[in-house]
Amino acid sequence: MLANHGRPDRRTGRAGLPGLRYVAREGILSHVAEAAGLIEVRDLSKKFGEKIAVNGLSFTVEPGHVTGFLGPNGAGKSTTMRVIVGLDRPSGGSATIDGLTYAQLRRPLTVVGALLEARALHPGRSARNHLLYLAQTQGVPARRCDEVLEMVGLSAVARKRAGGFSLGMTQRLGIAAAMLGDPRVLMLDEPVNGLDPEGIRWVRNFMRYLASEGRTILVSSHLMSEMAQTADHLIVIGRGKLIADCSTQEFIASSSERSVLVRSPDSRLSDLITANGGEVKPEPDGGLVPAVPATGQPDYSGRSV
Ligand SMILES: Nc1ncnc2c1ncn2[C@@H]1O[C@H](COP(=O)(O)OP(=O)(O)O)[C@@H](O)[C@H]1O
Ligand SMILES: [Mg+2]
Repeated sequence: MLANHGRPDRRTGRAGLPGLRYVAREGILSHVAEAAGLIEVRDLSKKFGEKIAVNGLSFTVEPGHVTGFLGPNGAGKSTTMRVIVGLDRPSGGSATIDGLTYAQLRRPLTVVGALLEARALHPGRSARNHLLYLAQTQGVPARRCDEVLEMVGLSAVARKRAGGFSLGMTQRLGIAAAMLGDPRVLMLDEPVNGLDPEGIRWVRNFMRYLASEGRTILVSSHLMSEMAQTADHLIVIGRGKLIADCSTQEFIASSSERSVLVRSPDSRLSDLITANGGEVKPEPDGGLVPAVPATGQPDYSGRSV
């Protein structure tokens, strides 16, 4: 069950998820709330002319976690995210949120917020006016602009020109814009790129906090080290195809071999290691022998072999 982060429903008196307040009957409310915020990408393909940016990609992103979307530059992360929010039309397959495409959402900002390109704002507008114009197109009350500015720590510069903001402030403003409709799904495309350590820590903690509220968080990066510290679950893609869909721990364990490099003039070494439960992989030139103890623990018994 998702944690409540909305105001009490006028009809039921219960705190609920924004966008679900119209669901009055209790049974339905809990049923819908449990399913809320599921991103489903199915056999998604996207071609730009001859270029295949996304190639038969399928994955699901669940609420309550920070899910990392990892892949090298050009892997198709941004394209996939753009398709999810209806900015690119898929060449094949689908991307839905709780079974609906972005175009089918009645009030999209209350369902999904996205930070795709933080610099995409009018440089002459103040931070608050930038949010206000977005809010007014979506029936979001003006006071929500102040709430989200407070949330991202930009209240003091709310009336300053956004064009003069540092990259970190611009990213925060982008996150504030994504949070305007109090959405249950948040997608951030490379949000920590170019940020200083303090900015990175802030974004990381903020995403964790939002996930702990029961929201669905999908965050992309081309840096494994960044994802390892931020995401609980990883969707890894390369050249538009799925490479892995597993917990971050599993991914790190499967891609990092625990090995030790041993060099010995005596060929009996490999027999001794194998006899002790280790695995030996001879180096191609036959001279170096990295050994992987079966226990994962090196043997420090001091025996010289
Ligand atoms: N509008 C576009 N027109 C042509 N090619 C594009 C367009 N957008 C993306 N691509 C290409 O699609 C591939 C995937 O890009 P992208 O989704 O931006 O990858 P990522 O975000 O993982 O770095 C890249 O080879 C990129 O050059
Ligand atoms: Mg990208």
